[in-house]
Amino acid sequence: MAPVKLEGYEFFNKTLRAPKTILAPMVDQSELAWRILSRRYGADVCVTPMFHARLFSEGKKYREEQFSTNKEDRPLIVQFCANDPDILLSAAKLVENDCDAVDLNLGCPQHIAKRGHYGSFLQDEWELIAKMVSLLHKELAVPITVKIRCFPTVEKTIEYAKMIQNAGAQMLTVHGRLREQKGHNTGIADWDKIKAVKEALSIPVVANGNILYHDDIQRCLDYTGVDAVMTAEGSLYNPAIFSKDHKFPPLAIDLAQEYLDICKVEKTNGSSIKGHLFKILHSTLPHHTEMRARLGKAHVGKDGSLNEYAKILDELKALVLKDIEEQGEGEDVQGQADENGIRKYAYWRCQPYIRPKLPKDNGKNSEKVKGQEEKIDKKRESEALQEESNKKPKQEISGEQPKQDTVDTN
Ligand SMILES: Cc1cc2nc3c(=O)[nH]c(=O)nc-3n(C[C@H](O)[C@H](O)[C@H](O)COP(=O)(O)O)c2cc1C
Repeated sequence: MAPVKLEGYEFFNKTLRAPKTILAPMVDQSELAWRILSRRYGADVCVTPMFHARLFSEGKKYREEQFSTNKEDRPLIVQFCANDPDILLSAAKLVENDCDAVDLNLGCPQHIAKRGHYGSFLQDEWELIAKMVSLLHKELAVPITVKIRCFPTVEKTIEYAKMIQNAGAQMLTVHGRLREQKGHNTGIADWDKIKAVKEALSIPVVANGNILYHDDIQRCLDYTGVDAVMTAEGSLYNPAIFSKDHKFPPLAIDLAQEYLDICKVEKTNGSSIKGHLFKILHSTLPHHTEMRARLGKAHVGKDGSLNEYAKILDELKALVLKDIEEQGEGEDVQGQADENGIRKYAYWRCQPYIRPKLPKDNGKNSEKVKGQEEKIDKKRESEALQEESNKKPKQEISGEQPKQDTVDTN
């Protein structure tokens, strides 16, 4: 007999084991190795990177390159972007035995998602969204969950969330930003809107946005009343953010080495490895610029070996330990918060990446930043388009999948 498909809070409490912390879906960055590390440090549930439903359902190579899991990798949610109910279902069917739920991405705000007609660019197509969600609710062996961004008004955001709940979603993640809040416009996530959605729905609601430090998780739970909190960037810069066991954030170099050790066992893309090491070590590398340059040029060996990375990390560790011994951890770096709540720690400790604010000048610089971001987006698009150029019938979802860096959040 097929197992009973649980719904709402039964699904949340029994299948997902009443999580408080969830590792967010991140293209190129919430891969198996990162999920293993995140679970070790307290992530209760993990979400895969967003996969493109059509490429996933059609291409064995794409599937094998993008998705891997193992028995310990649970509870696990697999995320897709899609704009066709049948294609989404056929992709989801391929993973229903390897995960606890399938998530639909309605949050991606990048140009590439606009061209591909997915993510937050479906935000106004409620009929299509309802069709996708209800088909999966009826036909899939595991529950369908959804991740959204907010509308400018709380009323419309609630209406949207209710529509998704009524279509059959069994959990909703609310990223408390608008579609327009990306790149230099990222700004602060709106916890009041998340709170309002939580109060209006009967399914479990997850909050996403503004988690820089471990205690922000409890602050967010208390403020919004949500069932769990999801973190993306905070975890990239401090994978131990989920853990309450650290008075001080851990040594970045230790976590970089621990992650690399996992990658030695779980085959991981070179781009994911490099991306993670740069992020974990972002406050360490400016103090050892030669190592930063070497890390930038490092490669996975032809035989898959990670020796080059391992050697760089060993040497960097020796330099950091020497600094720790010589400089010690002064009284001025004991986690004191500045007026914006940013805490001061010694450079060798994991700490969040704070997006530089636009200078309050005559706009010259802001144009420059904007121009740079647009350039990066265009580059991503053209790379993806090249891969896809022969496959794309009009109005069908394109194969464009955003490559992430620190500029845009999904
Ligand atoms: C590197 C990176 C990749 C991302 N990829 C995805 C993705 O695949 N699917 C998705 O729904 N959101 C994606 N996002 C958005 C995050 O899941 C999250 O909604 C956003 O970063 C806000 O949360 P945060 O404030 O904790 O970073 C990505 C974010 C980052 C930084």
